[in-house]
Amino acid sequence: MKFFNMIIFLFGVGLSANDLGSLLFHGNCITCHNETKNISAPSILLVKESYKNVFPKKDDFIKQMSVWVEHPKEQTSIMAQAIEKYELMPELGFDLSTLEEIADFIYDTDFSNTNHAGHSPKHN
Ligand code: HEC
Repeated sequence: MKFFNMIIFLFGVGLSANDLGSLLFHGNCITCHNETKNISAPSILLVKESYKNVFPKKDDFIKQMSVWVEHPKEQTSIMAQAIEKYELMPELGFDLSTLEEIADFIYDTDFSNTNHAGHSPKHN
């Protein structure tokens, strides 16, 4: 179980803020948001690009994304076409500080490079 190895690894070396964001993102968002493919929801790559276009500054990006994810609303969505295609994202019930942690991780992560985790072994 790769995921559990990762948790042990992270606790072994001590969690940095971004490791926590990564863990939270991979545990809670990836089920719907694939890194690069639009399947049951727009890919996180697409969500990130849309947000970065509208909120290029990291502070704004984190604030807007975490507030929106806390209570998804059509009126404040910046991805109206995604709502048309997939329907509005459900409310997940996370508190704001957890969502800020996740948004921080999303802002800093290059999802177009699927090896971004850095810990996965290379293919031979
Ligand atoms: C049950 C499936 C599901 C899960 C789990 C989920 N999402 Fe979504 N999300 C969607 C769908 C579908 C959309 C596209 C429709 C929309 O924008 O509401 C979306 C859209 C979004 C958007 C775009 C908002 C906008 O302006 O419309 C953001 C940001 C987002 N998700 C972040 C997250 C984060 C962060 C997590 C993890 C904490 C997460 N999502 C977990 C289904 C999900």
